[in-house]
Amino acid sequence: MTIKPGDVIPTVTLYHMTGDGPQGLTTDDIFKGKKVAVFGLPGAFTPTCSAKHLPGYVANADALKAKGIDSIVCVSVNDVFVMGAWAKDQGSGDKVLLAADGSADLARAAGLDVDMSGQGFGTRCQRFSMVVDDGVVQSIHIDPPGTFEATSAEAMLAEL
Ligand code: BEZ
Repeated sequence: MTIKPGDVIPTVTLYHMTGDGPQGLTTDDIFKGKKVAVFGLPGAFTPTCSAKHLPGYVANADALKAKGIDSIVCVSVNDVFVMGAWAKDQGSGDKVLLAADGSADLARAAGLDVDMSGQGFGTRCQRFSMVVDDGVVQSIHIDPPGTFEATSAEAMLAEL
């Protein structure tokens, strides 16, 4: 079942690339005591994700923070080295934390996984956005495959 407003974010470990190499981040590390904008997408370096989805959150990071968001997290079913390379390529810096859900643990536990085997991708994450307050989902949007609208940074800003 897909996670919904009022649900608690499942407890899993994600991975983030740092100057010292890969670092595990529990969902507690990411969400406890904070209001977090989190968005997920089907893959690092893929066309819409690279041209629109992640750049939109980087460009609007300060505006989201001005509306009460403490941190912004991008989740994808890619390994931490790919996510680290994508962060460098996109210049996301400390505006957006790129978190690798390499084994799709979060995607599956939240019911946000999608089978993209037909495109050679295997299990991936649907394109989604959520506002999570202290680990509790406040709102969630999902863009059906091949679309990009409801989960953009601009849409989240308009809603906050
Ligand atoms: C895209 O972001 O455009 C995309 C993602 C996954 C598969 C194909 C395209």
